[in-house]
Amino acid sequence: MLLLYLVLAWIPYCLAAKRYLFKTCDQSGFCNRNRYYASHVEQSPYSLDSASCRFESGALYATLLKQLPNGSPAQFPLKLSVLKDGQFRIQIDEQTRLEKNINLAREQSADIVRKERYNEAADWALVSDELPLDTSAKFVPSDSKLYIEYGPDHSFTATINFEPFQLSFAVNGDIQIVLNENGFFNMEHWRPRPSNTSEPDPNAGLYESDTGKWDESFGGFTDSKTRGPESVALDISFKGFSHVYGIPEHADSLNLRSTGEQGEHSDPYHLFNVDIFEYEVNSTMSTYGAIPFMQAHRKGASVGVFWLNGADTWVDISRMSSEAGSDTHDQKVLSASKTTTLTHWISEAGVLDLFVFLGPTPKDVYRQYSSLTGGTLMPQLSAIGYHQCRWNYNSEEDVLEVSAKFDEHNIPVDVIWLDIAYTDQVKYFTWHPSNFPHPQNMLAELDKSKRKLVTIIDPHIKIDDDYFVYKHLKETGTYLRNSAGEQFEGECWSGHSVWVDPFNPDERKYWAELHALGGDFAGNASNIWFWNDMNEPSVFEGAETTAPRDAIHYDGWEHRDVHNIFGMAYHSSTYDALIARHKGTLRPFILTRSFFAGSQRYGPMWTGDNAATWDFLKVSIPMLLTNGIAGMPFSGVDVGGFFDNPSPELLTRWYQAAVFYPFFRAHAHIDTKRREPYLYDEPYLSLMRDAVNLRYAFSPAAYTAFYRAHTEGMPILRPLFVEYPDAENTFGVEDHFVLGDTGLLVRPVTEENAAEVQVILPDASIYYDFDTQEVFQGPTKITVQTPLEKIPIFARGGHIIPQRHRERRSLELAKFDPFTLVVYVDENGEAEGKHYIDDFKSYEYQNGMYAYKDLLFKGGRLISQDVEGHQPNSEFLDSIEELVIEKVIVIGLETSNLSSEALIKENGEESTAEIIINSKGSSSAASEILIRNPRVSAGGNWEINLL
Ligand SMILES: *[C@@H]1O[C@H](CO)[C@@H](O)[C@H](O)[C@H]1NC(C)=O
Ligand SMILES: *[C@@H]1O[C@H](CO)[C@@H](O)[C@H](O)[C@H]1NC(C)=O
Ligand SMILES: *[C@@H]1O[C@H](CO)[C@@H](O)[C@H](O)[C@H]1NC(C)=O
Ligand SMILES: *[C@@H]1O[C@H](CO)[C@@H](O)[C@H](O)[C@H]1NC(C)=O
Repeated sequence: MLLLYLVLAWIPYCLAAKRYLFKTCDQSGFCNRNRYYASHVEQSPYSLDSASCRFESGALYATLLKQLPNGSPAQFPLKLSVLKDGQFRIQIDEQTRLEKNINLAREQSADIVRKERYNEAADWALVSDELPLDTSAKFVPSDSKLYIEYGPDHSFTATINFEPFQLSFAVNGDIQIVLNENGFFNMEHWRPRPSNTSEPDPNAGLYESDTGKWDESFGGFTDSKTRGPESVALDISFKGFSHVYGIPEHADSLNLRSTGEQGEHSDPYHLFNVDIFEYEVNSTMSTYGAIPFMQAHRKGASVGVFWLNGADTWVDISRMSSEAGSDTHDQKVLSASKTTTLTHWISEAGVLDLFVFLGPTPKDVYRQYSSLTGGTLMPQLSAIGYHQCRWNYNSEEDVLEVSAKFDEHNIPVDVIWLDIAYTDQVKYFTWHPSNFPHPQNMLAELDKSKRKLVTIIDPHIKIDDDYFVYKHLKETGTYLRNSAGEQFEGECWSGHSVWVDPFNPDERKYWAELHALGGDFAGNASNIWFWNDMNEPSVFEGAETTAPRDAIHYDGWEHRDVHNIFGMAYHSSTYDALIARHKGTLRPFILTRSFFAGSQRYGPMWTGDNAATWDFLKVSIPMLLTNGIAGMPFSGVDVGGFFDNPSPELLTRWYQAAVFYPFFRAHAHIDTKRREPYLYDEPYLSLMRDAVNLRYAFSPAAYTAFYRAHTEGMPILRPLFVEYPDAENTFGVEDHFVLGDTGLLVRPVTEENAAEVQVILPDASIYYDFDTQEVFQGPTKITVQTPLEKIPIFARGGHIIPQRHRERRSLELAKFDPFTLVVYVDENGEAEGKHYIDDFKSYEYQNGMYAYKDLLFKGGRLISQDVEGHQPNSEFLDSIEELVIEKVIVIGLETSNLSSEALIKENGEESTAEIIINSKGSSSAASEILIRNPRVSAGGNWEINLL
């Protein structure tokens, strides 16, 4: 059976996505109806009933009325709340469904399907359901409008217009976001199923079409919609913004393109998690994950919205010229851009739950979003090292040989991966009896070089009465059910299978038992890590390759309600299991393919089954940048391309780009040739080794960037517009990026045989070529020669970058190695940076066991001090006594007045260190000053004076 699937699954990549498996907007009833609605609406039928307004503990409650052609208006309870960090939340439910006052269309579903609109997405996505309110927000009602002043110095204003219902948001009087400006807001009210669904629906709303409201068939599957049409849609205008970003995951541009008849794409961006075999580059088709977060940016303003809905969702985008003087904009701000970007959000089901963020800077938007959905999990240090995977390493000997070959060729590696074949007939939590007879010995062997082993565990469970996991699911009924309430069955890697229901608390408890310490599968190892794949969930030959929308989860919710959340719920159940396994002492590592808003709390994602083409290398950058701004920066792609064999040049260029990927894993399909870097001839082998070594050298800076992602939601790989928010020529740039706070601006080579590339140096800083230290004065655009060994990296003056320069077999072995600080000075001879350290694997940093340092260089002195409010505790400082700075390198400083020795002050003691001036040879290269072995402590407060 498995063999059959392997054969069926393998079709050469050039065939491209099987589009016919997936609905277009046109073929999707609710998307079709809402586009129809948008093109027909004349006057929004929704108004706010002013008599219903009620203020209660900092929130406004009211009723929206929807005018209907027949009968009295439908009622929709509304709640508006202003949150502590300047976020604004809008929640709208439907009264009739909320009261369960409806008849389900399918009689047999009466006692198993819930009648309400799904209202638990927030429980999964948000860190807390107790969001602190901004009690200083001022509510100013009038006859036809309500004004709410809030945010920093009350600089934000929300204006609610009662009839038609509209909301606009302004910063210092400049309107930036308007909701329902075009009247596309639509919540399909409950109505009984007509006795003949081929005839016009007598209870339809205004501007409604009849497409696909009831049983909807596609690709040989029929979706029985027992609750009838229940979509929710809204238009969101970004006034004066021509650039919008976010809503991963698509293999498309960073700046989202326009959609629809006039657009660059005909279909809207689709958010519906699917196992899309051989996805296409430059497409709005949905892929494996969905984060309904969008950011709009222009010079002087950055805003965002978060459409918290876990159902199938489409987003149309169009751009329009604003008519001058049509509204009350501050003309100073508006003059930068007269374009408005109009977005239309359409979800199949659920309540409306929308958050609006008014920035005003990108950094504020990311903080406002991540304080709701959580920061990125702080990874163990090894997790940011190099990962070696393929489908498959076939046996214990194979795994250990791969590990040994890396040592033999002096290439560091932290993690080796096992795809499905390590199991006994793809029954998860088993080992193949003859190929993996002593897994604990293998794990112990890898642990000698502090390497980790990842095993894949998917949510499909083989139907086999002798398989203990299946037996348990069957006895407890904790699997996904079909619309009749029986076990849902389908095909996947395990053959005929059922699916776990991670929404069921009992199933989650069992999942923790399966991962428990001392268990038969994972034993007592602390270096076994996990990979949750196929969790869209992928169902071979299922409707749109996934579970049916009318399948039923715990507590009677339909699969359509939670589809985009399923992957995260599964991922989080493994996360909870691993927290329990190590009693909260070890940070888990679980890679996921499917994700939703909040998945960043549980582990990294990767972009699934790409191919070994230059196009996929190129698109990897906007894809990872998009994930980064949407709060899920711990992300990577299959380096080398999953399908097909990369040329040595492509593979080398891919390793060079991946130096900076937040997650760096090489992976390959079972039908590809082996491609571990040590199998290549020179110069490829050395260049790939150099790339991995460069990643390891930057690991202290990357780890610091993770800490900022963890605590503040800052992207790790940042688009230029984030680092240069005023440089308009960067807003559409998607082939350059900056690593964390390092100021390192990178433009990886993603074109075959590229002799040169153009690099933008966006602002008036000094830039240093990372390799030659040649100096460039920005702003400028330069041409860089790109022989195969060249990675175009430019260090922006004014930054200090913590690094580690000793070569080790794995990052964890380097844990106590000394650091090097590299200082690139700006035109005033100054620079600054940050450095975060902790024990690199536990949660003790939450108890103060860490140091977070501000590094400042000014007037010839380098100073290390605590970031405000982050004083390390002395126990931690004692534990890292040995951890020192072994070198300081200062680049670009005027060298004429240096003294011969650096004077060092730490803990009231003075010492000296040798100063060496290195010449790079070329006259255009910056000076380089080396301070040898100052031996100041990495966690301490000290200063080094060069003058
Ligand atoms: C349903 O309506 C269609 C269109 O009016 C009609 O052709 C069909 O006969 C009706 N079916 C039944 C069962 O009444
Ligand atoms: C994707 O779109 C960009 C911009 O329109 C274009 O340059 C590129 O060639 C396209 N790539 C593919 C694979 O179609
Ligand atoms: C795990 O450790 C416990 C306690 O040391 C021991 O009794 C048990 O045999 C170990 N289990 C495995 C699978 O190694
Ligand atoms: C070097 O020292 C001289 C004398 O103290 C001073 O005039 C000059 O400005 C200094 N140069 C720099 C670059 O600091």
